Amino acid sequence: MTSTLRLAEVTAANFDAAIELKVHPAQAHLVAPVVKSLAEAYVHPGVAWPRLIFDGDRLVGFLMAFLDIDFAGDGTGTDIRSGLWRLNIAAGEQGRGYGRFAVEAVAAEIRRRGGDRLTASWHPGDDGPERFYLRLGFRLTGETSGDQVVGELALD
Ligand SMILES: CC(C)(COP(=O)(O)OP(=O)(O)OC[C@H]1O[C@@H](n2cnc3c(N)ncnc32)[C@H](O)[C@@H]1OP(=O)(O)O)[C@@H](O)C(=O)NCCC(=O)NCCS
Repeated sequence: MTSTLRLAEVTAANFDAAIELKVHPAQAHLVAPVVKSLAEAYVHPGVAWPRLIFDGDRLVGFLMAFLDIDFAGDGTGTDIRSGLWRLNIAAGEQGRGYGRFAVEAVAAEIRRRGGDRLTASWHPGDDGPERFYLRLGFRLTGETSGDQVVGELALD
């Protein structure tokens, strides 16, 4: 299946379809809508790396990575990290390996830039994506980011 999977940039041609992409209504509290992520990408150029996930011609998901940010936010620049900022797999497309593909694609981009770890944060609890991240090999760092827990995947 993965041979048909690809990432694509958001363009004028696919923008309308991109912002129509929705997770299950019951998951809406877990991840920002695509349109908000794209607005954030606009105000954080060079840091945000938004991409659509296509299976053949079918739009199945959206991801946004963050690249080389001052994670502690204390201005010292001693804690530079990259990782997954947003991940939205469309309601009817979950459980088919698209989320795994998205994480692997971000991992490849971070490796390409010389990084050796992928940071993510998520809402803890059984109704959230924690088991997905742990299944992929993420380990909790013990940190929090707002009301989210922070996890990290070591890249070899
Ligand atoms: C969480 C999410 C990104 C997972 O994407 P997905 O395409 O459904 O997951 P995949 O099919 O790639 O699953 C990869 C692996 O994780 C496992 N997995 C996925 N969700 C799981 C869950 N809720 N509980 C347990 N295992 C889970 C799968 O079984 C699979 O394991 P396998 O490869 O050994 O069979 C997706 O469901 C989603 O968009 N959820 C709503 C929004 C959200 O929570 N986003 C994350 C914000 S931080």
